[in-house]
Amino acid sequence: MKNVDFTLTPDRAHTGSLKWQKYAGQEILPMWVADMDFLSAPPIVDALRDRVDHGVFGYTVPYTEAQNAVLDYLKREHNTLASADQLCWLPGLVQGLNLVCRAVGSAGDAVMVNTPVYPPFLSAPLFADRKRIAVDLKQMEDGRYTFDREGMEAAVTPETKLFLLCNPHNPVGRVFDREELEWLLDFCERHDLWICADEIHCDLLLDDAVKHVPFLSLGERAAQRSILFLSPSKTYNVPGLACAYAVIPNPEIRAAFQKACRGIITEVNCFGYVGLIAAYSHGEAWRQELLPVLQENLGLIESTLAEKLPKVKIPKMEATYLAWLDFRAYDLENPVQFFEERGIGLSNGMDFGAPKGFLRFNFGCSTERVQQGLDLIVAALS
Ligand SMILES: Cc1ncc(COP(=O)(O)O)c(C=O)c1O
Repeated sequence: MKNVDFTLTPDRAHTGSLKWQKYAGQEILPMWVADMDFLSAPPIVDALRDRVDHGVFGYTVPYTEAQNAVLDYLKREHNTLASADQLCWLPGLVQGLNLVCRAVGSAGDAVMVNTPVYPPFLSAPLFADRKRIAVDLKQMEDGRYTFDREGMEAAVTPETKLFLLCNPHNPVGRVFDREELEWLLDFCERHDLWICADEIHCDLLLDDAVKHVPFLSLGERAAQRSILFLSPSKTYNVPGLACAYAVIPNPEIRAAFQKACRGIITEVNCFGYVGLIAAYSHGEAWRQELLPVLQENLGLIESTLAEKLPKVKIPKMEATYLAWLDFRAYDLENPVQFFEERGIGLSNGMDFGAPKGFLRFNFGCSTERVQQGLDLIVAALS
């Protein structure tokens, strides 16, 4: 029996949806921010309903069931052993990215990132009065992106204290393999950098041949200098429940991170924990139904581009529901506006540190809706 009908597009008007509010009252299909248009997994909805029925919504500290749900999930799904004292709970990973930049080194130090990347990776170092060293990812012969090892070696400075890793990578959809991550660990050791590994998309793999290698699974050397960021919010489409966490095995790094949190990060809201427990404990059947839908959507995008718009390039996407499209061949003056005027709202690649002409297409919605989006793009460029 089906959990949820993934062919539906729930009406999200009047829910304050960031994604839909942007174009409220306009004939523009929102296919931008990373938020899916699917109903949540029934076990999550049921657990939240039970919590509402309880009727008391006081301050809620990380309780045993929530801690165990995370620890069991890490062990079961990612072969990662952690303990409850290594967890730092957060309302979201954007806060985490900003806090980690404040936790290491001091004003004037530098943070390295690879571009293009999820925009808060670019702003967090600057908000913390750190310099940002951005090194472009480079494309391999098969079109997949990888680290520019020479570029990173050339750009790193003695002031660089932190590397922000996005794996799987938003927006290029890459899942870095063990050899690449081993190299990164070696690089960070040689230059004495902390590594913050944001792995929020790790349960959204679209290529059956690809496996996610959790940074912490690289062993003790990795554990000594890394911070793992995770949340069920992308996979289970519950970002509005605002519940995320860091795993920090090294007590010194953990103390520095907790110091940066002091007085700023308070309890996660009571529903956030409930959603996380239900997602990690009972959400798998829903996820198993979601993944083929996302695979089908990606296939539709690839085949439509190949057939109808061969000048639009897409790298081989291994994960996420966010397609990274290169429209540079069309030399559009204002690509986002161009498509908005033709009925579709996409994310601006320039916000990710990419040159003009890249746009991100969110395909976390029904296949019919993806088809509508593609029809609009094809019509716009024909
Ligand atoms: C790589 C990455 N990190 C973090 C986030 C946001 O996380 P949160 O909603 O927990 O702040 C996103 C959202 O798209 C993301 O892609």
